[in-house]
Amino acid sequence: MSEIERVGVVGCGLMGSGIAEVCAKAGYDTVVREVDDALVKKGLARIEGSLAKAVEKGKLPAAERDAAWKRIASTTRLQDLAGCDLILEAIVEDLEVKKETYRDLDRVCGAETIFCSNTSSLTITELSAATERPDRFAGLHFFNPVPVMRLVEVVRTIATSDQTAATVFAFAKSLGKEPIRTGDNSGFVVNRLLVPYLLDAVRALEEGVASREDIDKGMELGCGHPMGPLKLLDFVGLDTTYAIAEIMYDEYREKRFAPPPLLKRMVLAGRFGKKSGRGFYEYGGPK
Ligand code: 3HC
Repeated sequence: MSEIERVGVVGCGLMGSGIAEVCAKAGYDTVVREVDDALVKKGLARIEGSLAKAVEKGKLPAAERDAAWKRIASTTRLQDLAGCDLILEAIVEDLEVKKETYRDLDRVCGAETIFCSNTSSLTITELSAATERPDRFAGLHFFNPVPVMRLVEVVRTIATSDQTAATVFAFAKSLGKEPIRTGDNSGFVVNRLLVPYLLDAVRALEEGVASREDIDKGMELGCGHPMGPLKLLDFVGLDTTYAIAEIMYDEYREKRFAPPPLLKRMVLAGRFGKKSGRGFYEYGGPK
């Protein structure tokens, strides 16, 4: 039922590159937009690396990798997204920056284009209010690593039309994902449960409950999690998690969402996790 053919992905970082990859693999013509050439290059390299890994792991035939790669175009100009049927936005978790981007997109894109935000904590309602199309606006929240994680949260606001909700749900399924429906509360389902847990792990480390290795081992072996909370924090990004926690704390005013001082200090010190070469663990590399 999805009448979507051409997809625009705004932001080609950790999440945006994964989103662009799954769209292209599912057969959609995909245009990724980043703010400068260096970020475009970095994003495309990430997609290329992940596609290569999928082939190597036997998840994707080489011919399909080549076809997916050909479906991806890149740009630094928002205007180049004019012909897209659906926009997936995955830029920085900053309300003002997102609102400004949506105001621009609203002018650039056709009236029928559906806008979806991958925000994990900002309210979709507020973002949609920056446009003239709140009825064609929804949340589509993916999980990291996007090509591997099967879940997508489909977020509907009070203004989202039935048709948009149905189209976005069908679109998520067409990507090979398992969508769940959620209301527009900060953190939706998964982060509402996950973020307090991750913050508690930092508090446990801060309070000297156990070493980082033993905290992680406890949850991996005791609860069957694929990675412990501190490793997961490094993987998601400490800066990203800090931003999410701040937004959720602001929304709910509950202590469980308040980022602990250690997390803040690590972000201030530039220890963002895997992407910066160092977080709770060290990852080597140039950074
Ligand atoms: N493309 C397609 N498939 C791939 C792939 C790729 N680029 N890379 C790996 N895979 C597949 C592998 O083939 C394998 O599949 P199989 O189980 O059928 O054999 C599977 O993915 C796992 O890959 P690996 O064996 O290479 O890696 P690991 O076993 O070390 O698992 C992991 C890595 C999937 C990241 C696992 O550690 C994990 O699930 N971690 C937790 C991730 C998580 O919790 N994510 C959610 C974060 S929260 C979030 O994103 C929300 C945000 O708002 C904060």
